[in-house]
Amino acid sequence: MQVSLTSASSCLLLLAAAFSSSSRNILDDFREAYYWLRQNTDEDARVMSWWDYGYQIAGMANRTTLVDNNTWNNSHIALVRVRMSAVIGHKVAL
Ligand SMILES: *[C@@H]1O[C@H](CO)[C@@H](O)[C@H](O)[C@H]1NC(C)=O
Ligand SMILES: *[C@@H]1O[C@H](CO)[C@@H](O)[C@H](O)[C@H]1NC(C)=O
Ligand SMILES: *[C@@H]1O[C@H](CO)[C@@H](O)[C@H](O)[C@H]1NC(C)=O
Repeated sequence: MQVSLTSASSCLLLLAAAFSSSSRNILDDFREAYYWLRQNTDEDARVMSWWDYGYQIAGMANRTTLVDNNTWNNSHIALVRVRMSAVIGHKVAL
């Protein structure tokens, strides 16, 4: 399977994937993930993701995000980036 890099970096909800048989599939994973978040997290949950997905999570999952595309506070973006790059399973304070 090959997913276009352009699509993967432009925050589209749907990605097109080309298979070797020249068939083309639409990947709906983002929309499904946002739906899952809406159904399976508390209404007051806060979601940490890379900022590109912040508006989509807020709009489609109806959950508060730690960062979104409003990146005016570089310190805050940097802080979240450091936390996201911490060792998985290692508890860190925000
Ligand atoms: C979004 O969540 C808030 C609670 O944080 C709730 O009051 C509101 O009804 C929800 N909106 C939708 C469209 O589900
Ligand atoms: C969010 O920012 C990314 C770059 O980090 C950009 O590619 C994307 O288009 C932006 N999305 C929105 C909704 O502004
Ligand atoms: C910017 O983000 C930092 C880190 O989250 C926070 O301590 C600071 O209060 C923020 N600045 C403003 C003006 O909100």
